[in-house]
Amino acid sequence: MAAHRGSSGTLRRRQCGNLPDMAELIPIDSADDPRLADYVHLRESSLRRSLEAEHGIFIAEGDKVIRRAIETGYQPRSFLLAERWVSSLQDILDATPAPVFVVTEALAEAITGFHVHRGALASLLRTSGGTMADLLPLNRLVVLEDLVDHANVGTIIRSAAGLGWDGVLLSPRSADPLYRRAVKTSMGAVFALPWARMDDWAHGLEVLKQHGFTVVAMSPRSSAVPLADLAASIAEQPECRLALLVGTEGDGLSDRWLAQADVVVQIPMSHEIDSLNVAAATAIACYALGPAQRR
Ligand SMILES: C[S@@+](CC[C@H](N)C(=O)[O-])C[C@H]1O[C@@H](n2cnc3c(N)ncnc32)[C@H](O)[C@@H]1O
Repeated sequence: MAAHRGSSGTLRRRQCGNLPDMAELIPIDSADDPRLADYVHLRESSLRRSLEAEHGIFIAEGDKVIRRAIETGYQPRSFLLAERWVSSLQDILDATPAPVFVVTEALAEAITGFHVHRGALASLLRTSGGTMADLLPLNRLVVLEDLVDHANVGTIIRSAAGLGWDGVLLSPRSADPLYRRAVKTSMGAVFALPWARMDDWAHGLEVLKQHGFTVVAMSPRSSAVPLADLAASIAEQPECRLALLVGTEGDGLSDRWLAQADVVVQIPMSHEIDSLNVAAATAIACYALGPAQRR
């Protein structure tokens, strides 16, 4: 929809017929405007972690991801949009009192420190989220031990959701699924798939076992059971409950979790490559051991 500048200097979309009042578009022309504090230095992860925790917010990027966040119930605090992306979110903007800051794409880059994907950002309020207890009734869980890379966390949540797994459990030190890069790489799956942080790393696997999960640890070690062998036996007991453990990017799973697992499974490797990226390995295992494989 076209926008025009009102007498107050704000951009206000033209109203049609008897529609209720629409969101006001607030043009911004300085990267130092204090109203943009939620959007500064988006590439500086340690600064962002403390800022987002302090204000209880997270950032969603791109019109589709913003739309998914709001449609699944997250409350927007504000939007930062290049003018040409306003119309793609018009219905969302009109349904909320959150301010809509409109900038040029160059100014968005100056504020955030990077080229903004599809010229659209939203700052949203975090919720308290799920707990490990919420995930225990589910059948297929991916469990992340201390993954540090937000893109890996987001990609794994996307794969788990897309391949029919029921939830993702994170060790206490794993990267934040609501961090901007995780949200973006998940393509919004972080809003749809249940996930939670484990309360206690040392005893988390015992709790899973007490609730009937078979704990499967993924490791590239050659002594492990080939994934295809486990997939064949799972196919004969489709109702069995699985917790699939994957390890941190550098060192892999801890000795403690490997020792506690019911079975250690490998994806056999070739060409002297010693391991896969953790998100790639998880996607393969989710397919081989999940409902998609049985269709
Ligand atoms: C980059 S790898 C870590 C490699 C580490 N040197 C190790 O021995 O586990 C990160 C995680 O991805 C999973 N992974 C990677 N390649 C795998 C493979 N070929 N088979 C099974 N799991 C694998 C494992 O869960 C591993 O902990």
